Amino acid sequence: MSVQPASSPEKVTVRTLWKKKRAGQPITMITAYDYPSARAADRAGIDVILVGDSLGMVVLGYETTIPVTMDEMLHHARAVARGAHRALLVGDMPFLSYHTTPAEAVRNAGRFLQEAGMDAVKLEGGRERLDVIRAILDAGIPVLGHLGLQPQRVHQLGGFRAQARTAAAAQRLIEDALALQAAGVFAIVLESVPVEVARAVTRILDIPTIGIGAGPDCDGQVLVYHDVLGLNDGHVPRFVRQYANLNRIIHEALTRYRAEVEARTFPAEEHTLHMKPEEAAALDAWLRAHGFFRMRR
Ligand code: KIV
Repeated sequence: MSVQPASSPEKVTVRTLWKKKRAGQPITMITAYDYPSARAADRAGIDVILVGDSLGMVVLGYETTIPVTMDEMLHHARAVARGAHRALLVGDMPFLSYHTTPAEAVRNAGRFLQEAGMDAVKLEGGRERLDVIRAILDAGIPVLGHLGLQPQRVHQLGGFRAQARTAAAAQRLIEDALALQAAGVFAIVLESVPVEVARAVTRILDIPTIGIGAGPDCDGQVLVYHDVLGLNDGHVPRFVRQYANLNRIIHEALTRYRAEVEARTFPAEEHTLHMKPEEAAALDAWLRAHGFFRMRR
């Protein structure tokens, strides 16, 4: 399959995403957590780069996203902003950064734009977060909603479980989605919900839906960088398609490196720097004059 380069070098904005929804063109989104992953995603022409709090699990080795702090998020977001110039950049608000007061939520959301070069923020939750969402929007900060599985509620849910599996739960999710849209979020991530629910929400809303484990009918799709590239050791969710197995390639490369150092076949002549012969001779003479061993050549 021949893959086209990014359709336009222009900076992606929330308006680009709305236009894509109206034109029926799929929106592409992926997470990135550092300069090289951001460069790779931007060069591939991905529309939206999310500095997800999933970095706690895939980059920092935490069991959940709960321990991730604002400082950790900002550190990674800054690196992403240095690497990506076309994609819309979204900073994920970590646990407790928007749960206390609207004023604190605005301050934390603002840090993503002011200190880390993000264009927008994402936060989990439905109607229970409306006051916070409205306050952040009032400050001129675009907000991406997140419904369905909300990983920051993992302990309350008793695990990373699919959501909205009953008609009643689906109705609640649809009402949440409508409330978020009315408040002014520019799009909504739908995580781990049945295809029937994602399809209904996508048809009902004017703003785009971006699915992860939500079937093919959303206006866009998002996946975690490490899942797409096969960089995770652990469990790969069923909804992921792995487009490469970089873990295997990295393992083979590092094992070969170790073996070649141990066998003294690396570094080879082409990796080696020599002195000019006259400098080497002068050093040799000095070493001998001072009783050191002869230089090995
Ligand atoms: O943190 C994250 O990576 C996310 C995506 C799964 C949408 O929230």
